[in-house]
Amino acid sequence: MQYLENQNIKYKNNQLYVEGINVDDLVKEFGTPLYIYSKNHFINQYKEFEDAFSQIKHKIFYAMKANFNLSVINTFVNLGSGVDVNSEGELFRALKTGIDPSKIILTSVGKTKNEIKLGLEKNVLMIKAESEEEVELINQIAEKMNKVARVAIRVNPDVDAKTHPYISTGLSSNKFGVDSKTALLIYKRRKDFSNIQFTGIDMHIGSQITSVSPFVDAMQKLSELYIEIEKDGLKLKHFDVGGGIGVKYNNEDSFSINEFAEKTIPLFKKLNCEIIFEPGRFLTANGGILVTEVLYNKKNGDKNFIIVDAAMNDLLRPSIYQAYHHIQPINKSDARKNIIANVVGPVCESGDYLARDREITQPTSGELLAVMSAGAYGMVMSSNYNGRRRPPEVLVDGNKYSVIRNRETFDHLIYDEKII
Ligand SMILES: Cc1ncc(COP(=O)(O)O)c(C=O)c1O
Repeated sequence: MQYLENQNIKYKNNQLYVEGINVDDLVKEFGTPLYIYSKNHFINQYKEFEDAFSQIKHKIFYAMKANFNLSVINTFVNLGSGVDVNSEGELFRALKTGIDPSKIILTSVGKTKNEIKLGLEKNVLMIKAESEEEVELINQIAEKMNKVARVAIRVNPDVDAKTHPYISTGLSSNKFGVDSKTALLIYKRRKDFSNIQFTGIDMHIGSQITSVSPFVDAMQKLSELYIEIEKDGLKLKHFDVGGGIGVKYNNEDSFSINEFAEKTIPLFKKLNCEIIFEPGRFLTANGGILVTEVLYNKKNGDKNFIIVDAAMNDLLRPSIYQAYHHIQPINKSDARKNIIANVVGPVCESGDYLARDREITQPTSGELLAVMSAGAYGMVMSSNYNGRRRPPEVLVDGNKYSVIRNRETFDHLIYDEKII
């Protein structure tokens, strides 16, 4: 079978290591299911991104929805990153790291009054508005607070990002942003919004995009709008490209960050403003694994099932997006036979699976498997479904490791509940 490895998560003497730490040793200490992250993978990805765009004025705002553990956010904040937050809860988490609020962008297609108020109170860099009604509401709230809100309008460029429909966000049939015409009308109405300063224009066309062309198409469309806005006498400070850069989960044909930079920098240079990026998955996905123990092997008819102790509540992506995560034993062995099997969890749903019809080395019960590329949209989507406690998270840095979140206790499961 194929074994996935990268610079920081790889086999040494046939045993899987995250940086200098043997995965088996971590399991002995913390049990399974267990999330393990490589801090240096996060750092290297961030630096690679920074370097690729060093010749233009730009800023990275880590999209913390991908992995919002405080230590993960803090890793990026310490590198100078800003943070893109999608709710008051994410804002709360981001602020816990001590980040300067002027390095926070407040996003979300449906911000509540309270979220807008909080964003203004904390004085975040900008609030993204996704409808004309929202612009009006931001203006009213800012007026009451005697503040001027910095706002960017999220424009839906109507391009096909050619990704899974659930993570495609830049088509006119998606709920996100406003079309170019509406955006232009809002910018033109700026005198009606005396408590708003329009500072930018924004897009985010989807996630796990594996070709540069949808980005280029969308940027071209928005550049035209940007130029029209300028002609109307409004000079914007930033052009926000959003996130969405795809990573390798298997052997998909993706693009490098340098190729992305090469194809987009000429467009950015024409705009003469600061370019904002909001990567999430690119920075974290391949820096994490979810380790799980095989409980049982069985056959139902012709179908092989490998039942493991991690489930859809720990890693939801396969169940909701049919997402591919490579699964491999943490002890490499070429001598064993491969089978085609479904790797499934203990949750009482047929949708509870980590892999379907997958060629995998036949494991024995008690053996440990690594679910690869679990550093993004993994733990953040976990739940307590079926009364399951959420797994711990360990961050490895060279030969050191730290528990950055403990396994939940049984008391967590009933926290704040009452028997009446
Ligand atoms: C507005 C916005 N920015 C950035 C991101 C991050 O996307 P990705 O993790 O694909 O880079 C998302 C993800 O949904 C998003 O909605």
